[in-house]
Amino acid sequence: MTARNTDIEKAAGVLRAGGLVALPTETVYGLGANAEDPAAVSRIFEVKGRPPTHPLIVHIGGAEQLDDWVAEVPATARLLARHFWPGPLTLVLRRAPRVPLEATGGLETVAVRVPDHPLALELLSSFGGGITAPSANRFGSVSPTTADDVLAELGDAVDFVLDGGPCQVGVESTIVDVTGDVPAVLRPGGVTRENLEAVLGYPPEVPSASGVRVPGQHPSHYAPRARVVLVEPGQVIADAELAQERGHRVGVLLPPSLADAPVKAHAVVPVPQSMAAYARGLYGYLRRLDQRGCDLVVASLPPEEGLGLAIANRLRRAAGPRTPA
Ligand code: TXA
Ligand code: MG
Repeated sequence: MTARNTDIEKAAGVLRAGGLVALPTETVYGLGANAEDPAAVSRIFEVKGRPPTHPLIVHIGGAEQLDDWVAEVPATARLLARHFWPGPLTLVLRRAPRVPLEATGGLETVAVRVPDHPLALELLSSFGGGITAPSANRFGSVSPTTADDVLAELGDAVDFVLDGGPCQVGVESTIVDVTGDVPAVLRPGGVTRENLEAVLGYPPEVPSASGVRVPGQHPSHYAPRARVVLVEPGQVIADAELAQERGHRVGVLLPPSLADAPVKAHAVVPVPQSMAAYARGLYGYLRRLDQRGCDLVVASLPPEEGLGLAIANRLRRAAGPRTPA
């Protein structure tokens, strides 16, 4: 038996025993528990410091299992599942009775996805049930995209960390509510709006944040310790240098248009031109700037199309108002 198989079996055993396993997915690392074990699910909330009303995503091993977890599968959900699973798309549907209310934050709907990572799929297959998992970080902070990030965030609070290397997508899944007449994008992510429209044949709805209850979406989320300020791309260098002169330890996410420009700041991360590479790197850059001791991060938003939409959403939330600790 390879070391990898041993790890999978160990992780499955931890889940069966009611423990918590950090698992790799293509988006970010998840903090997983047996979805049908209310006590284990409750431990996720404790470890993350997450309010119990914030619903979790149930990860399943294949699209054919969807009917086991939800009360009803509308044709649109079936279509999206067929096209995008395994992959970074989460579908919100009416829950089946086997999904405990602890996992849904008390809602009658449940979020489900099939992750596109070989180790996650092997674990789901070996475990046999559903794994409910939020991102494996403390509530409000930056999601982990490597096993080391998970250990830095959660340390001993997690019973086993399954190391599947760096996450390939880097931002969380796109969440689509398919309980209504028209699918509605609740969170932009790894599957773009353009991807969804191509399969649906019409654009999905994009409810405004204020118009719909989107649990677990606080203004400040995905945030590093350093305060994040967003400015126009052309202002990044001037604003960063001004803040540095005023005594801040400034970290800069330097837009590709300014690639080789010199910047007098504490730490500079040039952002890749490719949105896929930017998404893959984003949380790592924010972590790196924290590790370098920056207290302020100056960044700009990428064009809000394709994956740029998810990147801009996370940057806005990283820059959002923070509730006092
Ligand atoms: O890529 C991802 O989605 C990652 C990996 C680990 O799969 N998971 C993730 O989980 O980002 P989390 O807990 O950080 O975010 C899940 C979000 C919740 O904050 C909430 O906004 C939404 O999913 N959600 C879950 N259940 C829902 C429901 N029944 N109705 C509406 N939104 C729901
Ligand atoms: Mg999260």
